[in-house]
Amino acid sequence: MKSKKVLVIGSHGLLGSTLVKLLKDKNYEVYTSDISDKDGIDITKPESVEKQLEKTKPDFVVNCAAYTNVEACEDLEQYKIAYAVNADGPKNLAHECRNRNINFIHISTDYVFGDNDEDGYEESHRSFNPLNKYGETKLAGEKNIEMARGCIEGSDYYSQSPLFYVVRTSALFGEGATNFIAKIMQYAKEKEFLEVVTDEIVSPTYVKDLSEGIIYLIEYEPKGGVYHYSGEGSCTRNEFAKEILKLAGIDTPVKPTTLDKFNRKAKIPNVSILKNTKFPEIRGWKEMLAEFMTR
Ligand SMILES: NC(=O)c1ccc[n+]([C@@H]2O[C@H](COP(=O)([O-])OP(=O)(O)OC[C@H]3O[C@@H](n4cnc5c(N)ncnc54)[C@H](OP(=O)(O)O)[C@@H]3O)[C@@H](O)[C@H]2O)c1
Repeated sequence: MKSKKVLVIGSHGLLGSTLVKLLKDKNYEVYTSDISDKDGIDITKPESVEKQLEKTKPDFVVNCAAYTNVEACEDLEQYKIAYAVNADGPKNLAHECRNRNINFIHISTDYVFGDNDEDGYEESHRSFNPLNKYGETKLAGEKNIEMARGCIEGSDYYSQSPLFYVVRTSALFGEGATNFIAKIMQYAKEKEFLEVVTDEIVSPTYVKDLSEGIIYLIEYEPKGGVYHYSGEGSCTRNEFAKEILKLAGIDTPVKPTTLDKFNRKAKIPNVSILKNTKFPEIRGWKEMLAEFMTR
């Protein structure tokens, strides 16, 4: 069977870089494009999107590109840039994919929710309440995709071709210098003790697992719509940090603190858990973390 052609946008990022590697390992025909590449795509510009899709003619576009600096988004000038990338970008991609009959997978975030629901949010949950500007821009991106796809508000995206998917995920970790694990490891080596919050509950997610979830969509082409992918279970950031250091064999103490001790502009949900009812079983965050730390 002819392998599917996949265009990954944001291929230099935390998720995109791992997704590209896994797709190549599985012998997909992979194209990549990033804003920092020579002649790379800028998803904020419709003509740039059109040019890349015309050049590569993929079967699937996976959008891993985003403006992900949550704190910086609170600044008005940065917010405008974030909105262009996180809201206009998916709109441009969705329009072009629809017009060219290309399947489209877009990555979104748990931060579109903000009600601190301890039971977690299912894919069909429609009460959005982003607490920060980043979450607002990502929610606007989702709505733009729904509009471009011509969906009825709240319904699953039409199942006929092309297929559109929004995959919400949370607290990503993987290779890279700027994510939570890298920071915890660095501080643990530099400081006598760490202070990590006990009032932020998340479901950590290994980008390798999420990439497998994205590849599942490409491979099996299930019904279009919203999907949730994050590590099973949840923990406070403090528990997450302790588990990281335990696995790394580092005994720097991790003391409790709370979000209000940090002078952050962006409001962060206290509890943010995505419930998966559509993907086949997803493994627990501790198992994901153990694999990452011992790779
Ligand atoms: N990180 C998390 O904890 C987390 C949690 C929940 C959801 N998510 C979502 O998961 C997805 C992947 O996140 P990530 O952490 O892997 O992101 P990331 O590491 O920040 O990478 C983002 C990528 O987007 C590219 N990019 C930025 N502006 C662009 C533009 N105008 N046109 C084309 N490319 C552009 C960047 O390119 P350059 O490198 O060339 O600048 C970079 O490759 C995002 O949708 C994010 O919202 C992330």
